[in-house]
Amino acid sequence: MATLTVTQNFGKGACDLGVYRSLGGYASLGPRLFDLSQFELIDLVSRSGLRGRGGAGFPTGMKWSFVPRNSGKPVYLVVNADEGEPGTFKDHVLMLEDPHRLIEGMLICGWALGVRTAYIYVRGEFLPAIEALNRALKQAYDAGILGENIQGTGYSLDIYVHRGAGAYICGEETALINSLEGYKGQPRLKPPFPAVSGAWASPTCVNNVETLMALPWILENGPAAYQALGTPKSGGTKVFSVSGDVKRPGVYEVPMGTPLMELLESKDLCQGIVGELKGVIPGGSSSPVLLAEEARKANLDYEALAALKTMLGSGAVIAFNTTRNAVGMLASLTRFYAHESCGQCTPCREGTGYADRILKSVVAGKGRDGDLEHMLDLAANFSYTTICPLAIADAWPIENFIGKFRPEFEKAVSANPGHASPRMDDDFRPGAFW
Ligand SMILES: Cc1cc2nc3c(=O)[nH]c(=O)nc-3n(C[C@H](O)[C@H](O)[C@H](O)COP(=O)(O)O)c2cc1C
Ligand code: SF4
Repeated sequence: MATLTVTQNFGKGACDLGVYRSLGGYASLGPRLFDLSQFELIDLVSRSGLRGRGGAGFPTGMKWSFVPRNSGKPVYLVVNADEGEPGTFKDHVLMLEDPHRLIEGMLICGWALGVRTAYIYVRGEFLPAIEALNRALKQAYDAGILGENIQGTGYSLDIYVHRGAGAYICGEETALINSLEGYKGQPRLKPPFPAVSGAWASPTCVNNVETLMALPWILENGPAAYQALGTPKSGGTKVFSVSGDVKRPGVYEVPMGTPLMELLESKDLCQGIVGELKGVIPGGSSSPVLLAEEARKANLDYEALAALKTMLGSGAVIAFNTTRNAVGMLASLTRFYAHESCGQCTPCREGTGYADRILKSVVAGKGRDGDLEHMLDLAANFSYTTICPLAIADAWPIENFIGKFRPEFEKAVSANPGHASPRMDDDFRPGAFW
């Protein structure tokens, strides 16, 4: 049985404080944590190899080291529990199953950074998770685990749950901070980075739910033990949300470096593909798609997936079989990104919408010669020209789906008897295809 560092309490009723404690929870709240200086704790987390589990994989200890301690301003911790990317649903389940582990992780991070006030920014639709968090917070306050002078240490921490309003872009850390402050959820230009100037222009650490939930295990077992669970450059374990054409979709934790096909086929995990595998999106909807033969060679760690020109991202694996149509899949993804563009940057606002309308037209049997080149040109133009990476998150699927399944796209275009006649602007009038 593989070692679990984040999901070991699943199915054990750990939402309850007494149960969480009986399973070894909050053991770090004593000399194990409070005897460490802030610098020792940051060093320990750096040595564990833990990298942010929200998508970018930035080393957690390094991120913490950027937070200034003597700025004269409060330091905030904001947990990113927005989780709006298609295919990603691990944080929702983590909060439902083990909310106290998140609180314990926040206390560890809070001690490392001198945080007095922390927020959990949760996707608004996650009502059961919000209830579980609020119940767990009340239990923790009642037991003196949160609030003033925690366990006589002189350290105080308050945690607030903040509900988002259902915009995917509010998962981007600076849009999230704007939304938390009560402004429109639109990304900010960086620099300054949140670590230096985030919420209310104060130093702010934004970390993903899973990142913080790995901390209690790391403190208990030591950084070397955590690092050793994974590969030399991708330490520890990773929680994956697996959906699509697998026999048992769900949330699974495996060591970094595990072969992708083991996750999909093992009888203890997804139990195999339904039908014949056609491809896999390995790390959330924006990650470049892998063909079946590429998926068979892939390992689940940052470096192995980068070598296949894709990424681990948030760990959202979407497997699809040969009955799935690549044109329809890309149309669905592009619709999502066009809908979720916050509209600040012209290349993203106009480009994702234009690509969406072209794809809708192709799906409706009204494709024209040149549509594929047009979409690739659009994708190239809205990559790296915008404030945040949402536009690139649409460009990558466009480039990769068309690149890897081109005959399907060509067939869809040529299904229109009039495909050779030029496209008129009128084709894209609002409402033409939806
Ligand atoms: C469009 C967009 C959406 C994002 N959504 C999420 C999200 O739902 N959850 C998350 O943790 N990170 C999300 N991120 C990444 C965050 O900006 C940030 O890097 C992350 O929360 C940092 O935490 P980590 O270092 O623990 O991964 C998103 C980024 C972008 C560009
Ligand atoms: S890239 Fe898109 S989502 Fe990001 S800030 Fe610009 S318009 Fe908004």
